[in-house]
Amino acid sequence: MKKTKKNVITGKDADIPISTDSSGQPTIAQNAGNGFSRRDFVKKMALGSAGVGLFTASGVEKSWAVHPRRDGNFRFVHLTDTHVRRARRGDEGYARCVEHVRSLSPRPDFVLMGGDGPFDGLYTDKDEFIDQIGLYKAISDDLGMPWYNCIGNHDVLGWSARRKVPVDDPDIGKTLIMNMLGMEQSYYSFDLFGWHFVVLDCIQPVDTSHGPSYIPSIDDEQLDWLRFDLARNMHKPTVAVTHIAAFCHLGQIRQDHDMPSMHGRVLQNTRDLRLILERHGNVRALLQGHTHINEDYRFNDIWYVTSQSVSAAWWGGNWIGFKPGYSVFDVKGGELTWHRREFEWQHHLEPGDNLERERIAELEAFREEQARLRRKELARSAE
Ligand SMILES: [Fe+2]
Repeated sequence: MKKTKKNVITGKDADIPISTDSSGQPTIAQNAGNGFSRRDFVKKMALGSAGVGLFTASGVEKSWAVHPRRDGNFRFVHLTDTHVRRARRGDEGYARCVEHVRSLSPRPDFVLMGGDGPFDGLYTDKDEFIDQIGLYKAISDDLGMPWYNCIGNHDVLGWSARRKVPVDDPDIGKTLIMNMLGMEQSYYSFDLFGWHFVVLDCIQPVDTSHGPSYIPSIDDEQLDWLRFDLARNMHKPTVAVTHIAAFCHLGQIRQDHDMPSMHGRVLQNTRDLRLILERHGNVRALLQGHTHINEDYRFNDIWYVTSQSVSAAWWGGNWIGFKPGYSVFDVKGGELTWHRREFEWQHHLEPGDNLERERIAELEAFREEQARLRRKELARSAE
């Protein structure tokens, strides 16, 4: 099945080519999971590819343009772990982030979301989760540029022992968020500016003694889809996205010898994924989230970048020293570079957020101690 079709931007900037292939023809490829190429997917995904229609919760279509760059250079942003919620004024914080992204110069062309868009569906009341998804979508739409959604562990309804819905709720799992965002597939790929982008779904269902739950993994069916998707697009530089990381060094960062290296914080089948990414030779980077900290690691010529989170400590202050922030990726002369950005946001704790207050006090005490040690060491080295 041919996966690439010619297309032009719809909407107010109609007839502007999105990108060009080697023959100079404007092209856009949009490949949904399971090996399908779906025209409707292009139109309905909350994400819509370049300038394609994006449906709001009210069903009103918006169109945004991705402007072609004759020099092939472009910029995109990775926003992850936004955890949008009304509590702690997280919705206002995310709106501040969106404003910050819009004000970047040069302005980004599109956004790759990293998962955990709304605050939580694992153990939050369903109505509240629905409200959070609605906020996440509405505020993301204010980016005014295409955004591509990725499923995170907090994006699923009730796959947890702490669920607030019955196990037979028809919306349990990914259904609710996918319906609200108009996603027809939880993993997919697309092309922009001659590059290939792959959005993976690493949240897999598993039955446990307490009911449905999830494991962080790329399932076999998706790996099968991925190997052929990459093979078909091996002549294009590729960037992939996953919510839970293939590589994470929290154990080393904390010097925690008891932290299981393969539990919860990283994919359970990193090697299976890594070998496929490496085999096709044109995968430049895997963008990761979940831990809310920034990491940068290269292995076998693939760049594993974990972006710090937009929400920091779920909008409750900094997380291990990381303020609310995100990553900016630039492609210039065919080379990918990135840097991180932070935006000013004063956290607003709720009356019951005592654990957060304790955590913030501990962080401040830690910083004061580091400053004291630094002063002492500088004074001694000057003697
Ligand atoms: Fe998160």
